Amino acid sequence: MRKPALALTLFLLVSFLSSAQETKPAPRTTYSPVPVNAAREPNPVKSTPESIAEGKKIYGYDCAQCHGDTGQSKTDVAKKLEIPDLTNPALLKNRTDGELFYILKNGHGGMPSEGDRVKPEQLWDLVNYVRSLARKQPTAAH
Ligand code: HEC
Repeated sequence: MRKPALALTLFLLVSFLSSAQETKPAPRTTYSPVPVNAAREPNPVKSTPESIAEGKKIYGYDCAQCHGDTGQSKTDVAKKLEIPDLTNPALLKNRTDGELFYILKNGHGGMPSEGDRVKPEQLWDLVNYVRSLARKQPTAAH
């Protein structure tokens, strides 16, 4: 009974491999739920040049590897994960700052969470920086 067992193992392996290949990243769920309270949370950090600069620094450490230095998400990883272009003003126009804060803190779809890696103020700085990306290229030309 060794041969059938081997055949079965091979069959399982092959079907596992092919199913793994077919697995595409989940479609972007623009409205995946953010708790209402979190979405309504006002941004306590003003979008000053200092805040944006601080956000930019953290972005360089924790976000640029996927979203690219400019936020246009043209990295190889971005293509694989279908990462959205952060400079596209349409992307976040329906998001509140509270929603962005929640998404950055907890992750979203294929995006990992920042969790407790940074302080809340720094996460708000990041929110301010991400907002500034869409403002800089109003036509999202590329
Ligand atoms: C591992 C790669 C990866 C890293 C690192 C990453 N992201 Fe993302 N990001 C993604 C993917 C994938 C999506 C699309 C996920 C989705 O919306 O379902 C996304 C979506 C987003 C969105 C859009 C969310 C929305 O409203 O739909 C924003 C804003 C964003 N990322 C900002 C950031 C910031 C800021 C950081 C750094 C703290 C970061 N990302 C780090 C992969 C990444």
